[in-house]
Amino acid sequence: MVSKASFSILALLFGFSQALYLNQPQQTDMTSMILTINNGSSELLLEGDILLPRGRNGLVCADSSCFWKKSSNGLVEVPYTVSSVFSFSEKTVIANAMASFHSKTCIRFVPRTNQTDYLSIESKTGCYSNVGKTGGAQVVSLSRLGCVHYGIVEHELNHALGFQHEHTRSDRDGYVTINWANIDPNTVSNFDLKNTNNLKTPYDYSSIMHYGKTAFSINGLNTITPIPDPTVAIGQREEMSAIDILRINTLYQC
Ligand SMILES: *[C@@H]1O[C@H](CO)[C@@H](O)[C@H](O)[C@H]1NC(C)=O
Ligand SMILES: *[C@@H]1O[C@H](CO)[C@@H](O)[C@H](O)[C@H]1NC(C)=O
Ligand SMILES: [Zn+2]
Repeated sequence: MVSKASFSILALLFGFSQALYLNQPQQTDMTSMILTINNGSSELLLEGDILLPRGRNGLVCADSSCFWKKSSNGLVEVPYTVSSVFSFSEKTVIANAMASFHSKTCIRFVPRTNQTDYLSIESKTGCYSNVGKTGGAQVVSLSRLGCVHYGIVEHELNHALGFQHEHTRSDRDGYVTINWANIDPNTVSNFDLKNTNNLKTPYDYSSIMHYGKTAFSINGLNTITPIPDPTVAIGQREEMSAIDILRINTLYQC
């Protein structure tokens, strides 16, 4: 069954693919794609694609129970299941994104056997994840209508490992200007500063966790402007940056 809403999302995606084709990929704001797909999601979403944990305050993962446990062999196993609705090629995209963590960090996504805590990768309405480990089965949604892309999968898996959006980190005001007048008033909370653990890593415009310049714009004008150089690219969803990888290795003491 394909609803009317799905058709309009598809139409938007086709428009978007065309823009992707015509422009340089680096100049394309993949964030707006996630936000467009997530609009109207029935889940309670903060910052476009972060699932607000039910029964838990805040999104700051200050307690180490929010992180995945390291085994005695030095590897951090993150069990997962993948819904059978995904096609073979979609499963390959997900596997390739997981493999990028395996080759660069001590994180190992492993098919779940009997573990209690695991990621349940499903195609729900939108692309989203909790931040960190919640305990039990936790949904990582990768809608088949636009979320099953290498960089988007990496982005959502980074949330599941405990990472917030770069533009909300505690020192962001030294690196970006938030243009409050251009933000849709219903979405201003997406720009709230977080008490983040920055792991002694520099603010990273090239992070896969950074939002794009027009995220949550009400008028099409920029909501986030890099300072001092406003032309610096932000919002890429191509692949994890060197600093994204350094952060995982620092947080998990790889
Ligand atoms: C989200 O949906 C609302 C209501 O349908 C619409 O007014 C708004 O422009 C949409 N936002 C985005 C980012 O697509
Ligand atoms: C999972 O299975 C292993 C091997 O059979 C067992 O040792 C372990 O206790 C089980 N874990 C859980 C959470 O059931
Ligand atoms: Zn996100």
